[in-house]
Amino acid sequence: MTAMKQFDTTIGQSIEEAAHWLRQDELVAIPTETVYGLAGNAFSVKAIRKVFAVKKRPATNPLIVHTDSLDKIRNWVGHLPSTAEKLLQHFAPGPLTVLLPRYPSFPAEVNNGRSTVAFRIPAHPLTLALLAELSFPLVAPSANLFGTISPTDPAHVLKNFSGAIPYILDGGPCTVGIESTVVGFNEEGVPVIYRQGAITVGQIEAVVGRVLQKTADADKPAPGMLPYHYSPQTPLLMSEKMPSQVKVSNIGYIRFKSYDPALPEERQILLSPEGSLAEAARNLYKALHYFDEQGLDLIIAEPLPEEGLGKALNDRLQKAAFQHQNKIRGLCVISD
Ligand code: TXA
Ligand code: MG
Repeated sequence: MTAMKQFDTTIGQSIEEAAHWLRQDELVAIPTETVYGLAGNAFSVKAIRKVFAVKKRPATNPLIVHTDSLDKIRNWVGHLPSTAEKLLQHFAPGPLTVLLPRYPSFPAEVNNGRSTVAFRIPAHPLTLALLAELSFPLVAPSANLFGTISPTDPAHVLKNFSGAIPYILDGGPCTVGIESTVVGFNEEGVPVIYRQGAITVGQIEAVVGRVLQKTADADKPAPGMLPYHYSPQTPLLMSEKMPSQVKVSNIGYIRFKSYDPALPEERQILLSPEGSLAEAARNLYKALHYFDEQGLDLIIAEPLPEEGLGKALNDRLQKAAFQHQNKIRGLCVISD
């Protein structure tokens, strides 16, 4: 699945070339420690509209503004809660996104006119150097078509956007591999987790104490809390137990640390043979991209331990599996 052809997309490491395109309101894929972002000038309505169009993302889903300094963020927002300041001091640059009160600094297209804007200082040397070079910050959703698997290396970006963007800034494979944790703040400044991610709830609590979990509104789901997302094209089942009956034979298995002896090893990908959740995070999207390119009938993923980073990884797997539920019922029987 690729978007319309308009450019001869190149992959390279030139900050100058990336900056050149961005200054002309074109889009450039940028490396971050979490996943690649589809970046555009955050002050330009034209560039922001391109981001939504190229990604095929609903305009109601707000974007994250990426910058290289906490001082810049301070200047752009009306009020920085002390808990947000503490979290940024502690985790930035890093995989933390904070939702801060909106100030007229940004076009309404960035956040669909919501009361907050999302900010993040990504920890990737190339992107930090690019941001320092530019006179504007960058909006950057993950560089995948809406609803599909997030990209953790330039080849994944090319798969979706070959011809649709002029340049991919190549920063190598992402070292973290799962998106940032999105944190808002209530009236008392208590952090509220909007999206689980690379920084665990425990890590956040260790810095600022108690945190709350954003719960979805029944009639108006919070953005980023859609039940489906991150999906491969191949039907995906997330299940601890193997189905008792499977009607297809072409299956790939994603497992945490050990092979299932009952299954052919060459059909299994281990996310981390040494049982590290950080390594599993680095490999999860890569495994999904890989199996999705193999023309399989079914991918079965073992849930990760529901602790630390495992919670965010399971969240992504659940969302990835969600839209395949009906198809899965026709492919296999899962008995209790
Ligand atoms: O790690 C990341 O965060 C990556 C890299 C590229 O930085 N970016 C990323 O962006 O994952 P995106 O657009 O795919 O996801 C941003 C999430 C969405 O779920 C969006 O709904 C939520 O952040 N978000 C952004 N602004 C928001 C706001 N003002 N209020 C609530 N949620 C917001
Ligand atoms: Mg995304």
